[in-house]
Amino acid sequence: MGIRHFLTLTDLTLDELQALIKRACVLKKEFQEKTMRPNFNGRILGMIFEKSSTRTRVSFEAAMAQLGGHAIFLSPDDTQLGRGEPTEDTARVLSKMVDCVMIRTFEHEKLVRFAEYSDVPVINGLSDSYHPCQLLADMQTYYELRGDIAGKKVAWLGDGNNMCHSYINAAKIFGFELCIACPQSYQPLDSVLNDAADNIIITDDPQAAADNADLLVTDVWTSMGQEQEAVERMKAFKPFQVNAELMSRAAGDAVFMHCLPAHRGEEVSADVIDGPQSVVWEEAGNRLHSQKALLEFLLV
Ligand code: CP
Ligand code: NVA
Repeated sequence: MGIRHFLTLTDLTLDELQALIKRACVLKKEFQEKTMRPNFNGRILGMIFEKSSTRTRVSFEAAMAQLGGHAIFLSPDDTQLGRGEPTEDTARVLSKMVDCVMIRTFEHEKLVRFAEYSDVPVINGLSDSYHPCQLLADMQTYYELRGDIAGKKVAWLGDGNNMCHSYINAAKIFGFELCIACPQSYQPLDSVLNDAADNIIITDDPQAAADNADLLVTDVWTSMGQEQEAVERMKAFKPFQVNAELMSRAAGDAVFMHCLPAHRGEEVSADVIDGPQSVVWEEAGNRLHSQKALLEFLLV
């Protein structure tokens, strides 16, 4: 097979994703025991960030350093990208200099175009439509804590956004039931839903979504780039907050995830995110290990 990209979760098969998660668990153990053997021999990851980031930037940069490679942070403010150099040209130039490119941007189409012109693997570090790297960490976290997610019930509460779209992809690939509770006007895109219709239930009733769920997930109500809609979004999403009452409807051993950053008192109450069922810190930490496994998969 030729060069592989990771623009959505569907770029990998179930077998590949399961192997990647198992490898991430091994890399995590080696990291914790300080027994990692770097095998990247100076390979370089270019990282284009057109939006802010804490976890994605630090996890990719740390991953490359720990694997024996390097990462270069590129922002539109101080590269020619911000002065209008075409995506296609940037892709062809970077391909001649680095071994892999990670991009966080707005339109998903830009990533697709970049990948078309790139001779090296391209990773989606978040677009307006998808956040597949976060799903690697979420699936690893569930696997470590509860085992196989196939056949389980996952409740998505809130916006039908990029994270929700990647959960829809995951439901189809990993074979879980995804119950999405969101206001009518913030439902996920039909084009994403259609491919996974058998695994998805959409409702505007958060209680129904939470009933007996094994995993509850939410995300910010206002994503990056939507700041001007914040007031109306706050109103629309209020009934969809994950709080103790909602958690009490879930299965006894249910866990709570959030990709972070979180807004306590908005999409999640403080007692839930800081409570015993929350696994958000483990989830965030797994960004490092699952992305190392992804980089190995694409580069070695
Ligand atoms: N979850 C996530 O992608 O976090 P950052 O925006 O901090 O990278
Ligand atoms: N949906 C959020 C995720 C941030 C990691 C956003 O796009 O801003």
